[in-house]
Amino acid sequence: MIKPSSSINHFLNEVNNKIRLSDFIGQFVNLIEKGNSHVGKCPFHNEKTPSFNVNNDKSLFYCFGCKTGGNILNFITKYKNLSFLEAIDYISKYSGISYYIDEKKKPLNSDEKLIFQILKYTNDFFQLSLNNSKQVIKYLRERGLSNEEIKTFNLGFCPDEKYLINFLQEKGFDTEKIKKTDLLIKNKSNEYFGRFRNRITFPIFDFSNKLVGFGGRTIGVSKIKYINSQESVVFKKSQILFGLSQNVDYIRKEKEIFLVEGYMDVIRLFSFGIKNAVSSLGTTLSELQLRKLWNFSSLPYICFDGDEAGINASKKVALKVLKFLKPGKSLKFITIPGQADPDSFLEGKKKSDFTDLKNQSLDLSTVIWEIIKESITTDTPEFLASIDQKITSIIKSIDDSKVSAEYFRFLKAKKDGFIWNINKNQSISYKEKKAESVFENLNEKIFILMILLNNNYLSEFNEEIFEVKLSDEILKKEMKEILRAYTEKKNSFVLIVDSYKGKNPAFYHEMQELQKTHLDNLTIREKNKLFRQILNNLRLPVLLDERKSIQKEIIDEKNTEISNNLLKKYSRISEEIKIIQNKDIE
Ligand code: CTP
Ligand code: MN
Repeated sequence: MIKPSSSINHFLNEVNNKIRLSDFIGQFVNLIEKGNSHVGKCPFHNEKTPSFNVNNDKSLFYCFGCKTGGNILNFITKYKNLSFLEAIDYISKYSGISYYIDEKKKPLNSDEKLIFQILKYTNDFFQLSLNNSKQVIKYLRERGLSNEEIKTFNLGFCPDEKYLINFLQEKGFDTEKIKKTDLLIKNKSNEYFGRFRNRITFPIFDFSNKLVGFGGRTIGVSKIKYINSQESVVFKKSQILFGLSQNVDYIRKEKEIFLVEGYMDVIRLFSFGIKNAVSSLGTTLSELQLRKLWNFSSLPYICFDGDEAGINASKKVALKVLKFLKPGKSLKFITIPGQADPDSFLEGKKKSDFTDLKNQSLDLSTVIWEIIKESITTDTPEFLASIDQKITSIIKSIDDSKVSAEYFRFLKAKKDGFIWNINKNQSISYKEKKAESVFENLNEKIFILMILLNNNYLSEFNEEIFEVKLSDEILKKEMKEILRAYTEKKNSFVLIVDSYKGKNPAFYHEMQELQKTHLDNLTIREKNKLFRQILNNLRLPVLLDERKSIQKEIIDEKNTEISNNLLKKYSRISEEIKIIQNKDIE
């Protein structure tokens, strides 16, 4: 139970404050934003032109066609044909707000009331204790936090438990009462000690801004870096997003939200003016937390740590979220380079460095394709055939039929491209061209440099990059190494120009110079555009050659089915060539 509501009006008010009616109804009706309202085809009568309106400011819907209208409760009762209680239950689950039908029969249990009171006083005490702990403040300063962050997130410190017990006793709570919370833990010899003793404390608030527990980080040597409040009726990890209550206004304003792993990530981002990160206290994401994120933004960013665990957790989230996708609602994935977390990434950096990462984030669909592709370890027909099974299982897990159909199309096209590239690499021998001009070489050098500087290019333009045949022998060798590194350990894949420092100083120096003269003054957008231009230019000779050889094959081919397929290939390549030659790449 998150928050008890005694009356239906109170309940609905709470719900309306928390969620957007268009998001709720958008689960069932395809809505398009128009001015102040969202418009769609009425689910309650048959119509061709949309006359069904949802107004988020008033939290009401109305159909000008059949005159049906009302609030969220009216909608779901009618749409799902639910009883009053079922409808309340449905909305409770969606919003995370509880409604008690009869407050007298089901009051907030007195133990819970007590726990909430004690937690509140404890939080005051922790904050007071921090003021007296110079050493802890010094630690927080070293981690880049100023008073603003300490105050905003109510950071505190938990000293020896006897002080906490004294403080609470003075406030009128005897030890028996304190034991009802999980602030004290009983050890083997039946003695009580403080759960958060000697730890920095992070108070945790639920979706209705109630203080429900703490996280505690060790500052000394402890094997356990973090300790959190225990799962209980009061503290439910799956119904919490750390940082939301502090950052909610900024998040509403920006309509943008980042999900990170840790407390410190949320707070450190805040200190850089990125006041819209929240954490699910680790790497899980519950359905409720996901819906919460979607209430604030249609495209929340998942920004887990860049280590292998974080990357795997991102993939897990990607697969999990499929079930709940709706038209227009998805996720984006930020990859943090160098195995860092957002906190350590920002060390010595600027806000814009994080924005750059954001601009390079991957779509959910791309991540899903990467997951499928990764599982294909060889290009034997059997393995390639298993791609179909994987695609089927992905689209089956998407509940929404429209989204599911689009995913099918997207993944199918990716698969076709994938197989097409494999075939081509195996069957077509490309006539090597000698470097004719310095300019061509320059292109190739910048191409490699950009791949080294932006690791996302390799996954984003994977197929195309693999197609490119460089003319410069040395660069060709370098490229081969890079592609091998990428294929062999895609999971924790990081390339850096610096790695050439010892290996090939001349190459390193040349790359550094090139970076200064050709790249440093470009914006991300310009860089992306340049990269695509170079990529296309480098692919052009390959495509032209290929088209020529297909042309010959078509002429020689007697079998109509095969020649039809060749014709299709031919026109697909021609289309690509046309696009490149027209430089139509935006
Ligand atoms: N966490 C936890 N219990 C642990 C370890 C981690 O609850 N034993 C949760 C915490 O919410 C933590 C998050 O997982 O913030 C991420 O863990 P980790 O990356 O280890 O911590 P950081 O936030 O990076 O902490 P710090 O930077 O202070 O080392
Ligand atoms: Mn960290």
